[in-house]
Amino acid sequence: MKHWYEWAEGIVLGPNLEDKLAPPPRDILFSEPFSFKLPDVPARSSKTQFSDKQIKFPKKYQLHEKDKMSLALNAFANHELLALEIMAEALLYFPHNTEEGKRFKRGIISALVDEQKHFSLYTERMNELGYEFGDFPLNDFFWRQMGKLTTPEAYIASMSLTFEAANLDFSRYYSKIFSELGDEKTSNILETVYLDEISHVAFGFNYLKRWSNNKTLWDYYQELLPWPLTPARSKGISFHSDSRFLAGMSEEFVHQLIHFEDPFRITKRKDSHEKTDR
Ligand SMILES: [Fe+2]
Ligand SMILES: [Fe+2]
Repeated sequence: MKHWYEWAEGIVLGPNLEDKLAPPPRDILFSEPFSFKLPDVPARSSKTQFSDKQIKFPKKYQLHEKDKMSLALNAFANHELLALEIMAEALLYFPHNTEEGKRFKRGIISALVDEQKHFSLYTERMNELGYEFGDFPLNDFFWRQMGKLTTPEAYIASMSLTFEAANLDFSRYYSKIFSELGDEKTSNILETVYLDEISHVAFGFNYLKRWSNNKTLWDYYQELLPWPLTPARSKGISFHSDSRFLAGMSEEFVHQLIHFEDPFRITKRKDSHEKTDR
């Protein structure tokens, strides 16, 4: 039986999808000593290597074409894979010498298992269309941002409350588009991702409240975000307030989010021109 850290190490340092998708061990105590050195990038097989190649994300009217749809699913799946690699890294990196630290890590494991499920849903759909994960270029954008995640506080601000929060909007948006195109199967996958994402964002918001020490949550969130991330990154295409309320965010926090703007062009999203590098 593997130790939890061997399982998490396998996700970061193992190149194959079997390593990345292995289920966690059943009994995790977080009491065993171990050492781990963070790699520059997670190990990937030759098929799933990162690439610098910029490819245009398909426009919505192209998403009924099998190759364009597979390209989109490839990008979605890559985000899931990066998320679960980062979560495994967080497990190996953050301390767990308190009950709070252990509880926090159990929450990360539960989200990680969801990301594994999302990855499989997207890639199995690609297979049905005659494609495989890695048939299109894969970027390492999330990983590059996450190098700055040196504390659990920075992790919840960046991962849960920014990238996963943006995915509330993206998953809903694309679920609707695929439904309009008559592809209920893909639409349902995105709906599943959306529902799980609500709980991942809720996890982050709960800890934001818990650790805020009477600071205004909005100020505290911004203070924790490592540059150049800003709250604008937490908004996808067509901002959806209700999903934030379902994740437990307050009226005031959502109001601040709606009205936040930053000067970076990438976050001025238009639904007709969305990059894979979200
Ligand atoms: Fe996910
Ligand atoms: Fe997630």
